[in-house]
Amino acid sequence: MENTDKQPIDFFKVIHERRSVRHYKPEWSIPREEIREMLVEATSAPSSSNLQPWRFLVIDNQELKEKLLPIARNQKQVVEASAIIAVLGDLEGYLKSEQIYQQSVDRGFMTEEVKQTLVNNITKAYASRDHEIMKRVVLVDGGLVSMQLMLVAKAKGYDTVPMGGYDEAQFKEAFEIPQRYLPIMLIALGKASEPGHPTTRLPVDEITFWNQISNRDDASLQNATK
Ligand SMILES: Cc1cc2nc3c(=O)[nH]c(=O)nc-3n(C[C@H](O)[C@H](O)[C@H](O)COP(=O)(O)O)c2cc1C
Repeated sequence: MENTDKQPIDFFKVIHERRSVRHYKPEWSIPREEIREMLVEATSAPSSSNLQPWRFLVIDNQELKEKLLPIARNQKQVVEASAIIAVLGDLEGYLKSEQIYQQSVDRGFMTEEVKQTLVNNITKAYASRDHEIMKRVVLVDGGLVSMQLMLVAKAKGYDTVPMGGYDEAQFKEAFEIPQRYLPIMLIALGKASEPGHPTTRLPVDEITFWNQISNRDDASLQNATK
């Protein structure tokens, strides 16, 4: 999928054609400016209080990709893809609330007074939140931006695979990740040399409840064990 004629790309085509791709053209490099543009698009994702706690460590240096390889269970895409983007969650992301809301004031989206109230409330609420809650917040927000990044990449003619298969402690040590950044996932980004294999999804009626959660799963489990 490549948008050569600059026509709008069908959104549904993008989401249906995205696959986790595990084979890339190793010689293909993506200019940093292009990766930057993809990140700009991806960061239009929503986030809790618009605090955008996602941070990106883009690993496009071959030696560093080799260093990551054993940490990421020797998954070949780590060295074949053009870049590995480590999506991190900043557990102290709320410290940027002043900057974020000042942008809204500058653009005329809110008054200085509203900004100040919001910043005060956010700082009070987030500064006292416990570690587990902060982790949850950055994991949710990090997941949203990651998904957008993968779809943007697909729309621009690239492929991706999200990776949770790596040793978090070793990754943090090898890449000197400060404690405030929680690794969320690694995303390999590159030009596919082989398509991703097809996958299936559960029937939507099996995973959707309307108005209340029924216990049909429990019932089917009991039937299965009879
Ligand atoms: C959080 C997360 C972690 C994943 N970790 C890996 C991984 O370490 N290696 C890998 O090859 N695929 C990984 N995947 C990709 C899944 O296997 C893949 O998304 C799933 O099989 C559905 O296939 P599709 O992405 O092609 O639709 C991961 C996906 C997610 C969402």
